Amino acid sequence: TTKKIAVLAGDGIGPEIVAQALRVVDALELDVTTEEALVGGAAYDAYGHPLPPETLALAKVADAVLFGAVGDWKYDKLERRLRPEQAILGLRKELGLFANLRPAICYPELTAASSLKPELVAGLDILIIRELTGDIYFGQPRGRRAAPDGAFAGADEAFDTMRYTRPEIERIAHVAFRAARGRNKRLTSVDKANVLETFQFWKDVVTEVHAEYPDVTLDHLYVDNAAMQLVRAPKSFDVIVTGNMFGDILSDEAAMLTGSIGMLPSASLDSSGKGLYEPSHGSAPDIAGRDVANPLATILSLAMLLRYSLDHADAANRVEAAVREVLASGHRTADIAGSGERAIGTRTMGDAVVAALGRT
Ligand code: NAI
Ligand code: MG
Repeated sequence: TTKKIAVLAGDGIGPEIVAQALRVVDALELDVTTEEALVGGAAYDAYGHPLPPETLALAKVADAVLFGAVGDWKYDKLERRLRPEQAILGLRKELGLFANLRPAICYPELTAASSLKPELVAGLDILIIRELTGDIYFGQPRGRRAAPDGAFAGADEAFDTMRYTRPEIERIAHVAFRAARGRNKRLTSVDKANVLETFQFWKDVVTEVHAEYPDVTLDHLYVDNAAMQLVRAPKSFDVIVTGNMFGDILSDEAAMLTGSIGMLPSASLDSSGKGLYEPSHGSAPDIAGRDVANPLATILSLAMLLRYSLDHADAANRVEAAVREVLASGHRTADIAGSGERAIGTRTMGDAVVAALGRT
């Protein structure tokens, strides 16, 4: 049956970069349809809400969502529930997206952009899997409390609750073991089991799930050590799985190893194989509408969409090969152009990828 991609381009550079990804979809000539809807500030302007019912309904019936980016300074004064960024949180919740996959790849031609020495990052290709729905970000109770003796006029303390349930850990562990199986069969689970009961439990449950994946090698690392190893020897990792908070921090750290935000895709998956795919960067209002944004993070997000939600691994490989080819042949948008290298625009980069696809 024909698969359907919901296309939510959003704000800022969103429409420009998503347009290039859609040209790639066309060029692949797959049995796939696309349907667009408004999201973020664009949806607020048209319907008074960043995630209107029509958009949510489309996202729910589609097999996957290709998302651009949302947000603009002009919405800063809106109450929180109407701000563009709320659309992402709403989609995560409504679609049950619990696994965030962020690859960090350092293309040989772009090692100069990394924060690390070229020999440490050249050829880097790791995948960080972050749990999205639990941990200290959502655990109850949370709040502020006044001192019993009323010694202070306002609150006297604030608290959050770190918490994971067995099913939450099991389902993210399964995603991680399956991803490792599709790569180099090595998984590192990152925890803080030496100090936190929650993460001793995490480690125990991940170890139990490992029994179902005997072909994958599992090791465990404390998060402080993982943060060090990521800058000392990032290529020693392959797939990393961790909780919501540690994953938030480590995935941003890993992004800097690659040097260029315009190159980093991401996927957020549910338990049925459906997912939302978006570049890791935001709507970049500072460069919107000028045909200078790098569309490759979005095109690589499309490749993840094809691989993880549409079962088109071959097409995904072709897209990734095309991206490697355009980089190897010297195509650079401004964000990845070195000194003395000529920068091309968003659309011209799209042209180059489509042309490279024709050769794969
Ligand atoms: P940003 O990622 O949009 O931009 C940071 C810097 O990177 C800017 O200088 C921008 O020009 C540059 N940049 C980003 N993507 C690029 C690309 N594809 N090509 C070339 N350069 C690129 O982050 P910022 O400035 O903090 O946020 C801007 C807006 O985006 C805010 O409203 C924010 O809330 C929103 N945002 C949305 C996200 C999403 O839709 N998932 C994620 C992060 C931020
Ligand atoms: Mg973050």
